[in-house]
Amino acid sequence: MTLVLGIESSCDETACAIVRNGHAVLANVIASQHELHEEYAGVVPEIASRAHVERIVPVLRHATAEAGITLGEVDAVSVGHRPGLIGALLVGVSGAKALAWSLGKPLVGIDHIHAHLYAGLLDRPDQPADRAPDHSELFPALGLVVSGGHTALYHMTSPIDIKRLGATIDDAVGEAYDKVATMLDLPYPGGPNLDKIGLAGDERAHEFPVSRLDRDSLDFSFSGLKTAVLYTVRGLPTRHTDGASTFARSASDLTDQDKADIAASFQRAAIRALVVKIERSLERFPEVRSLLIGGGVSANSRLRHDLSDLARTRNLPLRLPPMEYCMDNAAMIAGLAYHKLRAGLIDDLSLRAEPTTRIEDFAS
Ligand code: KG4
Ligand code: ZN
Repeated sequence: MTLVLGIESSCDETACAIVRNGHAVLANVIASQHELHEEYAGVVPEIASRAHVERIVPVLRHATAEAGITLGEVDAVSVGHRPGLIGALLVGVSGAKALAWSLGKPLVGIDHIHAHLYAGLLDRPDQPADRAPDHSELFPALGLVVSGGHTALYHMTSPIDIKRLGATIDDAVGEAYDKVATMLDLPYPGGPNLDKIGLAGDERAHEFPVSRLDRDSLDFSFSGLKTAVLYTVRGLPTRHTDGASTFARSASDLTDQDKADIAASFQRAAIRALVVKIERSLERFPEVRSLLIGGGVSANSRLRHDLSDLARTRNLPLRLPPMEYCMDNAAMIAGLAYHKLRAGLIDDLSLRAEPTTRIEDFAS
């Protein structure tokens, strides 16, 4: 039996988890900072770092208590060390180093994006909780990460052998959700609220553009869609001689039904753009045997519905994370760390917090 402690602090969630054998989650504690960032309608890095410092020890204590273990029973300490807000990452990385050193246990640095791809493999009823998981039938897999900071497709030959196929050239899909929610005057965090009101809307009310980019592209773009929604909400801008622009309308001129229709039409276009690139990838990589999805937007009801349809049509296993593992969490960090640990990929105390992910593109 291998117990891995996971720590996550890359953005606005302070999280610790204990995971057994890479998939059985014994504790998954998340302290969200939403209330601290709400009045700014976005994450303020300094506030996030300070809140991580205050919360990391209580969250760690809570996690060990929930798992019913002492820290001494942990076999390895893992931490999301990239990408993210540097000051926020430093709190988790410093804490993980201190724990690994004082406990005399291996330290495993994990890429947060790669961990999102693993989230759908946690707590699977088809895996025995007392042994190592066997995911071999799922690989090679096509991975899609849809979060507030990233939108990218991956070719994966194992949970730790991951190559990027394409990524957004402008906004991440979660960022587009959040910005459109702000245009509609929805409360922060925007994505889940947009999802909710869209359920009552007519998705055909507006024909928003579905970005496809070049014929062979596996990249994404969401800024054109965002601008199309802006002009629908506020009308075309009038440009003045001093360079400033004004709009004819604002969100307060919209009825709740208007907002629901815009939300539903936006979601149809945004999710279609993701599905188009998955379809293209499946044509290019016919060896793919499953779809692994992760990131905050994988909680989206429209995305879950449309990807389930796609997977059924293609007869491919689909691993969508349970809701609690869609958002940032440390269970996905500890789960993936188990595989790195088994492969001997451990770090020393020189492990650094890094603001960006390390990209290995697929060269075919
Ligand atoms: O993965 P995550 O927790 O943080 C990052 O690594 O970015 O993703 C957060 C993003 C936010 O943009 C949030 O609005 C979006 O995920 N999100 C959703 C939903 N739940 C969270 N977007 C659409 N529908 C949802 N239900
Ligand atoms: Zn994330």
